[in-house]
Amino acid sequence: MIGSPNAANAFFPHRHLLGIEALSAAEIERLLDLADSYANLPKDDERARKLLRGRTVMNLFFETSTRTSTSFELAAKRLGADVIAMSVGTSSIKKGETLLDTAMTLNAMKPDVMVVRHNESGAVNLLSQKVDGSVINAGDGRHEHPTQALLDALTIRRRLGKLNGLLVAICGDILHSRVARSNIQLLTKMGAWVRVIAPLTLLPSNIDRMGVEVFTDMKKGLKDVDIVMMLRLQLERMQGAYVPSTREYFRFYGLDYAKLALAKPDALIMHPGPMNRGVEIDSEVADDINRSVIREQVEMGVAVRMACLDALTRNLTGNQ
Ligand code: NCD
Repeated sequence: MIGSPNAANAFFPHRHLLGIEALSAAEIERLLDLADSYANLPKDDERARKLLRGRTVMNLFFETSTRTSTSFELAAKRLGADVIAMSVGTSSIKKGETLLDTAMTLNAMKPDVMVVRHNESGAVNLLSQKVDGSVINAGDGRHEHPTQALLDALTIRRRLGKLNGLLVAICGDILHSRVARSNIQLLTKMGAWVRVIAPLTLLPSNIDRMGVEVFTDMKKGLKDVDIVMMLRLQLERMQGAYVPSTREYFRFYGLDYAKLALAKPDALIMHPGPMNRGVEIDSEVADDINRSVIREQVEMGVAVRMACLDALTRNLTGNQ
């Protein structure tokens, strides 16, 4: 049967990857180790190309994406899977078909893995309960974006050799950010200390319950951190004004060299993209080859997605 979890496989005993919340530190570590080995492989490695042969991966993106959808596609291809990429603009979703109708239609074609992005928190979880194969959450509303947190963690681990004990500042639009939620869960599970820095209007009211330290003053929040992770102002999720103007926002919360000077001297700069240069991050800082690992994050995205596809399909029996 497609999708029946194979109990004998203890490597990753989950049928779906819906969020970081459901994962243990040991499972995260195993995924990162696997991703690390993929990051070291040449991109045409023959053994890797056989792993998902005969498997079908469907990318179902109900929201726009550049990095995430292309890197899932590339990851699946590097593992030899057949890949179907579908985005809203070219599907019947535009004609009014509901999420579940679309998912069930595609499910009838027996994909082994569906990679799904949706603008509603919880939509991907709902879909996972209806389909036969595995589902990977590629970002649902403000809820979770697990592969982004994993690729961020892999980038940090490869640079600094560890996650445990690091001090990480996540700055900007925390309120609307699934990247922040997944990163907070992952980093705290792995023993890092997390600070969130944002104006009060961009902080969820009970954020401190996630085990983070909260700052509204960027200069205080950045003091002595190892990692500065910047987030985009998610204007498409805002109704009304959350910040007075983008110029004023940059003055108080944009990362420039003056504010960066408060972090550790070799602190790394991260951003999940897409960046709004001059709004949350100064262009020169973003491109600083000594400090910014933004391009490496994109590179690690492919390795992490290969690891996730590999780990989940090990749990599937049949359909070969
Ligand atoms: C993020 C997302 O879509 O959640 N981007 C990404 O996946 N690299 C962040 C964002 O949209 O700002």
